[in-house]
Amino acid sequence: MKLLLIGYGNVGKAFRKLFHEKKERYPILQNVEIVGIVTRQGLMLGDKENFTVDKQVSVLDAIDYVKPDVIVDMSSPNYKDGEPSVSAYMRALSNGIHVITVNKAPLALKFREIFDVAEKVGAKIGFQGTVMSGTPSVNLFRIQPVVEVSRIRGILNGTTNYILTRLYEGLSFNEAIKEAKEKGYAEEDPTLDLNGFDAAAKLTILTNFVMNRNVKIGDFKFKGITEITSEEIRRAKSEGKKIKLIAYADNYTIQVSPQVLSPQDPLYYIDGVENALEIQNEIQRIIIRGPGAGPINAAYGALSDLVLLLEGCL
Ligand SMILES: NC(=O)c1ccc[n+]([C@@H]2O[C@H](COP(=O)([O-])OP(=O)(O)OC[C@H]3O[C@@H](n4cnc5c(N)ncnc54)[C@H](OP(=O)(O)O)[C@@H]3O)[C@@H](O)[C@H]2O)c1
Repeated sequence: MKLLLIGYGNVGKAFRKLFHEKKERYPILQNVEIVGIVTRQGLMLGDKENFTVDKQVSVLDAIDYVKPDVIVDMSSPNYKDGEPSVSAYMRALSNGIHVITVNKAPLALKFREIFDVAEKVGAKIGFQGTVMSGTPSVNLFRIQPVVEVSRIRGILNGTTNYILTRLYEGLSFNEAIKEAKEKGYAEEDPTLDLNGFDAAAKLTILTNFVMNRNVKIGDFKFKGITEITSEEIRRAKSEGKKIKLIAYADNYTIQVSPQVLSPQDPLYYIDGVENALEIQNEIQRIIIRGPGAGPINAAYGALSDLVLLLEGCL
């Protein structure tokens, strides 16, 4: 099985390293090889740690040139139109090439269109790394067959949860953001985290997959944490409660907004950069919690998709 990696930044490098570590130990990966890596700079043929350009081609041309069995998209999200990933997926899937992605943008913008193409030809899409990184959220549903999910509810953005935790502990908004950046929990421009967009993108992907809906980011209202006042934090605290940014979807509603939670709520206890997801189906209520980010976690999300693909479980 030939892999073409798209993107070779933090996650791409972590994926390559993890892939080789696991390949040495797990026979299922024996016949898998990385045959190329493509970035904005061009295509490197073969599998070397240090990226060099062998051919100055676009992502689409790299797929045609390398003819992989699987593309693994670990490139930066482009929320304007999802490109070049959307076109890359369409090209790959329509040729029976499977897609594994940690890049949220294409699926948050064009989930149904992408899946329609895949289903026509029987190609598979793995996307565990798009929601909660390597903590099984998407893939948990793959081992929950024939249940009807009526509600999902979660804390899906670690940056905002970290900031809210620190506000609760007495820091000002600016202090909390500064600290989050220093610790590597917030990007230089954290706008898409703070305004709820990132959580909304993840909720869009999960809702489409789990509830078989056809939602796009932008179809519903989302609110982040920027308008929360220190007075609101103080009031929640004095009542023994906490404010959390909650992503929520049921069969009628989908929204991201700050909510005041009491200690009876399991999500009340999710602090710092941790993420959590509560799933209600007609049989049971399940709660998972774990890291929602980090290059190694995202790389593991993609690698777990690869193994599930090899096992015929995607
Ligand atoms: N880091 C995390 O904790 C984490 C967790 C879950 C998911 N993710 C997702 O994983 C992806 C990668 O994150 P990262 O932290 O590895 O980012 P990164 O270090 O900035 O690396 C991004 C890579 O994508 C490539 N790229 C960007 N635009 C491209 C384009 N138009 N065509 C081809 N290649 C392109 C870049 O190539 P150049 O070098 O040529 O610019 C670079 O190699 C993102 O979608 C992110 O949202 C990250």
